[in-house]
Order: sequence, then structure tokens, then C-alpha cells
Amino acid sequence: MRLLLVHSFLFSIGIAHAAVTAYGPHVQQPLGTVTAASASYTGAATYNTVILTPPPVPNPPPPTSFGVELKTSGVSGLSVPQHGSFFGFSIEFSVVTQVRDSFLQVPFLNLMANLRERAGSVHVRVGGNTQDYATLVSSTPDGAALEKYYGAESNPTDTPPLIFTPEIIKMMAGISALTNVRWYLGVPFNDTQHWRLQIAEVGESTLGDYLIGLQAGNEPDLYSRHGHRPDSYSPSDYKNEFGLLIDAMDADSSIPNKDLLIGPNLAGVWQPEQIWDTGFATDFNQNLAALAVERYPTDNCYAQFGVGTPRTGQEMLPSYLTHQSGQHIVSEYLNSTAYAQTVGKPFLMFETNTASCGGFPGLSDAFASALWAIDYGLQMAYANFTTALFHVGGESVYYNVPPVTNQSTFHQWTVGPIYYSALFVAEALGPSNQSQVLDLNMNGGNEFTPGYAIYENGQPTRVALVNYVTDKSGASDYTASISIAGTNPAQVKVKYLAADSVTQKYNFTWAGQTFGDAFSSDGRPVGNVDIQTITCDQTNNVCNVKVPAPGAALVFLSDQALAESDQGPTMTFPTTAYTKVQNTATIDPSVLATSNGNKGLADSLAGTSKGRNFSGAFGLAQALPSVGAVIAGALLVTRMSLMVR
Ligand SMILES: *[C@@H]1O[C@H](CO)[C@@H](O)[C@H](O)[C@H]1NC(C)=O
Ligand SMILES: *[C@@H]1O[C@H](CO)[C@@H](O)[C@H](O)[C@H]1NC(C)=O
Ligand SMILES: *[C@@H]1O[C@H](CO)[C@@H](O)[C@H](O)[C@H]1NC(C)=O
Ligand SMILES: *[C@@H]1O[C@H](CO)[C@@H](O)[C@H](O)[C@H]1NC(C)=O
Ligand SMILES: *[C@@H]1O[C@H](CO)[C@@H](O)[C@H](O)[C@H]1NC(C)=O
Ligand SMILES: *[C@@H]1O[C@H](CO)[C@@H](O)[C@H](O)[C@H]1NC(C)=O
Repeated sequence: MRLLLVHSFLFSIGIAHAAVTAYGPHVQQPLGTVTAASASYTGAATYNTVILTPPPVPNPPPPTSFGVELKTSGVSGLSVPQHGSFFGFSIEFSVVTQVRDSFLQVPFLNLMANLRERAGSVHVRVGGNTQDYATLVSSTPDGAALEKYYGAESNPTDTPPLIFTPEIIKMMAGISALTNVRWYLGVPFNDTQHWRLQIAEVGESTLGDYLIGLQAGNEPDLYSRHGHRPDSYSPSDYKNEFGLLIDAMDADSSIPNKDLLIGPNLAGVWQPEQIWDTGFATDFNQNLAALAVERYPTDNCYAQFGVGTPRTGQEMLPSYLTHQSGQHIVSEYLNSTAYAQTVGKPFLMFETNTASCGGFPGLSDAFASALWAIDYGLQMAYANFTTALFHVGGESVYYNVPPVTNQSTFHQWTVGPIYYSALFVAEALGPSNQSQVLDLNMNGGNEFTPGYAIYENGQPTRVALVNYVTDKSGASDYTASISIAGTNPAQVKVKYLAADSVTQKYNFTWAGQTFGDAFSSDGRPVGNVDIQTITCDQTNNVCNVKVPAPGAALVFLSDQALAESDQGPTMTFPTTAYTKVQNTATIDPSVLATSNGNKGLADSLAGTSKGRNFSGAFGLAQALPSVGAVIAGALLVTRMSLMVR
């Protein structure tokens, strides 16, 4: 593997720099509970250099020239109005246990700030299987903000009980104050006789409006399989337990907001209708902030751990490079997103990504995933999901983490493809909260050339175009001839998400800017912003927008739509004063065999993750003097996952 030296990304695009100084190095000791020999950690080393072969140009090839007519009245099929924060992140709670001290990660703040300037806010869920066994305590014996007790596992998935202190929540509040991140937390659900409601109490009092939901029960349809409930555990049992939780919260005067709960968070074993049919969403309507599910298109568990169906990234690659992927995933939830509207609740994809059990080397970290997540994200928006959280951390760490030895040092973050997708979707939707998404089904519904229109207040404002084909010859670039009924724009503006191939890793560009190669980003995009102006043919009322193979284009139909989508940085966080950051990572693949998110449409397995040690960060004292010691795994995990997801 390669470790690059810190790049001084001193760039100026008119940013108002916040007076933030980061200090380093701050060397942390690993927890020492996980000690995989470096030699056993070959998978990641291999993965890190895997470059797959792009699929050939489809036969027959998609037509490369076609019209896209946007109606301005009588448009049918528009989604519900979506927020710019639609595309968010899910972070495995257990990874906070890897953090010995607390730090604020400057690159993380920048990554969140980038999204905020486009979407207004960012939604992040901290949770996962470990949340069910977590306990908030006032302090830990050695002062750590969060600890995991190995050896005390009481369940087949080795879910380690963990304890954490209010420092973690304070850290989140600090992040929110800087970057307007809004959080979802989870209430422990393992013990329905003795509820541990402290996370709700402290969460509400510390985060205030920045706490937007409390997940109750993570993948209850897998509880019996994991031995957490009897074999007979049923949708009505879950519903009854949810009712007990509501009773307990009602009796707790330290929990003022009783309407933040989120369920049923199914993994795909039970059909959502089985829950709706219990009366869950109507009986508990006043206590529910949203309905939610979790789902991955597939898993890579066999390659990693020898369970499930063998799959390779190379053979799976084409299944991501098609509009049908997202359509297939959402198809079984369409009835539920419609149902959610009838009960007046948002419908969340609470956890998803390319594949559970670590994704696929060469695929999950490649440009293919960026295109796929744009299409899938917008497909979920079109299908009336109201939020989609891409899981970063947990199992993803297995291959996201560079195969560093315990001696290695790395300096900066690696921003992966899913983060580029997040920027694209944030800009596509913009901050108005009025954006309605339409799958254009364009080019005769060709699966390799999906496109979406975004409408605001009845008018089309942006068009998102994807080209899944890789063809260096240029022969597969396509031109979409966009016309807007009743209007005749003189020009439109276009931003491109670009790379040479769907299998390229790193160095993608979004509107000319990049987060660069591996380990080279401080979370700020680098390079000059490149926004193309396309002069329209006003005689024929068409704007011809070319989309390279591969690539994605975001077409702004007015300058106002462009301006709204990127309000410009309000604050960035330069890492001016740090010298060196030491990171220590050890992973035991065997303990990841039951890693969280170990499930897919094909194999519904699941578990939780443990077995990583991460440390190292930027101490950031001046930004958050009151927080003092602050960063949670949230930051670390996100960092890991943004690496290649
Ligand atoms: C639930 O988890 C907590 C914390 O790990 C533990 O103390 C408690 O015994 C568990 N209860 C049940 C019923 O599993
Ligand atoms: C849709 O969901 C509702 C509520 O659970 C259920 O009554 C109905 O049968 C479902 N329809 C289909 C087609 O699955
Ligand atoms: C999304 O919801 C809107 C409003 O209810 C509805 O018209 C539309 O058909 C739904 N879309 C899908 C794909 O179900
Ligand atoms: C680092 O790993 C090597 C080989 O696995 C081991 O010999 C050495 O003691 C480790 N050093 C530390 C500081 O953990
Ligand atoms: C969009 O919704 C968010 C969250 O409800 C809110 O904070 C923001 O002010 C809204 N933006 C607009 C333009 O209404
Ligand atoms: C990314 O760009 C840098 C700087 O131009 C270059 O050194 C590096 O080789 C590129 N990496 C990849 C994977 O293309």
C-alpha cells in the first residue's frame, strides 16, 4: 500500500476560514483487545490494489442521442417533497468504542460542512446492533468516553455490551453547532423489563432539536435468529415491546419529547406489511417520528467469512451498473412508502450501501459505486423514501481501512465514491425542502442511461443524468436533448461527476474539484470549480447535454437553481497546525464474521461488528473549548467509511 505525505491543500475559493487550529500529534494507545496478526490481514492489502475490469459496452449499445421532454403542468408520478438532507449517513455505534480519547476530526467537519452548504443540514444515525446492549453511564473507571467489554458477550453474534458517557453526546452537540448535523440515536432494546432510557434523556437534553429520532429495535426480524428472543418472536411481539417502551418513556419526566421513536427497522426477513398489519403505525402514531427499514442489495460474506453465497466484485460489477439495481431494491417497499403517507409518517432507509460484509474490493471503492448511489439514492427519493442513510463503518471498516500495520502512520483521509454521490444528490435536491423527484424513464427506459428531473413548486429546476457505460473511445457518450414545455432557456449550467472508468478509484472530480487520491484529503475539495455553460438551441427549444461514458451530469435549468444548490462555504476547518497523526489499526477478520450489516436481499444474515482498533486524530481544542475532549467514533467511523464506500 501507499502512504502519501500530507498534502498542503492550501487553496482559495473565497472561503471564510474559521479560526480553528488543530494540534497534533496525539498518539493513542490501542485498546489491546483485538490483536490480529498483521499477516492475517491480507485481504485488505489485496483489496487495496484491486482494479476491476469494466464491463464491455452493452450489446446492443444504448442509443446515444435522445430527447427529454419536461412537462410543466400535469406532471404525474412526482415524489413527495424531499429535503436536501435526504442522502445521509449511518454509523455503527460500536466503533466509538475504538476511541480512547475524544477528538474532533477536522476532515470530518469539513466533509459535513460541504454537505451543509448544499443541503442545509446533514442527517447522521449512530447506531446498529450494538445499540441494543449499550448503557449510558455517568463515567467510566478510566475516564474513557466509551468502552466495550469483551468477554462479556451474551449472544451468538458476539455483540459486545458497551458503555458510554454523556461526553459522546456532548461531542455530537459540538459537531452540530459547527456543521448542523442532525442525529438519530437508538434506545437499547435488549431488555424490555428494565429499559435503559438514559440515552433518550441525555440525548434530548444535550442535543435538543439536533436529535431527530430514536430508533427502537434494530432489525427485530433477526432477533430470534440471533438468540436475542425466543424462536416464536413475531411482529406482534415486537409491537407489544414497542408499546412497553412508550409506556416507560411516558413515565420518564426527563424525556420531554415522546414523539421521536423510529421503527420497525426491519432487515428484510419480515415483510413490512406484517408490522403495519399489527396496527403499529396507527396505534403508536403519536410517538413515531418515522417508519424505517434497512437493506443492502447483496453481501460479500462468503469471501470474507465463508458464509452465504460466493460472489466476487468482478462478477457483481454489472449488477450495480444498471438502473434496475435501485428499482429492484425499492420495489418491495413501494406499498410501504405509500402506506407511510396514509399514516402521515416519513419513511427512512435507515441503513444501506453497496454490499454488507465489507462490500466488494474494487467495486465498493470505485467510481461505479458513485454512479450507483446517485441512481439508487434518487430512485429511493422518487419512490417516496424520505431519507436514505448510507452505512459507513462497522463491517465496512474491514476493507475501508488501509492495511496499515500497527506501525503505520497515515495523515489524511481518503474520500470514497459514496461521498461524491452525497454531494451530487444534495445539490440535485437543493435546500428548499420542496424538491420532488421524477424518474424520467428516459432513452426508452434504457437501464444504462437513467435520468431524473427535480421539480420545485411545479417547475423543473434540475436534471440528473447518469451514464453507466465505460467507453474510452467516446462512442458511448450520450447527448440528452432537454426541452422544457413553455419555456425556452437561452442556456443551462452543468456540473459533471467524472472519472475515466467505472473501475477507477480515487481522484474523481465533481465540477472539476476532487478530494484526491488515497489519504490525501482534509475534507475540502481541491481544484477550480468547473461549471459548464450549455447554450441552448432556442429555435428548436432544446438544450443538448452531453454525458460522458462513464459519468453523471447535474443540469441546472436556471441560475437560481444553481445558486441555491451551493451556498458556498460558510465555514471550513483548516488543519494548519498539525504535524503528524498516528493511526493504529488492527483487525481480526474472524471476529468480523458476524459483522453488522451482514445481510442482503439474497442472504438475510446479520450480526454486529467488533474487532477494530482505531485511534489517532486531531486534537481540536480551540474550536470546542467547552467540549474539551471530543470526538466520537461517529467521526472516526465516518472517516473510515468515507474512505471507500
Ligand atoms: C441487556 O443488556 C444490558 C447491558 O449489556 C445487560 O446488563 C442486561 O442484562 C441485558 N438484559 C437482557 C434481558 O438481556
Ligand atoms: C399494502 O400494505 C397494506 C398495509 O399493510 C396492506 O393492507 C396491503 O395488503 C398491502 N398491499 C399489497 C399489494 O401488498
Ligand atoms: C410517491 O408519492 C406520490 C404522492 O402520494 C405519488 O403520487 C407517487 O405515485 C408515489 N411514487 C411512487 C413511485 O410510488
Ligand atoms: C506491532 O506488530 C508487531 C507484529 O505483529 C509486533 O511484534 C509489535 O509488538 C507490535 N507493536 C506494537 C506497538 O503493538
Ligand atoms: C428545510 O427543513 C429544515 C428541517 O425541517 C429546516 O431547518 C429548514 O429551515 C427548511 N428550509 C427551508 C428553506 O424551509
Ligand atoms: C490521483 O491523482 C494524483 C495527483 O494527480 C496522482 O498522483 C495519482 O496517481 C492519482 N491516483 C489515481 C489512483 O489515479
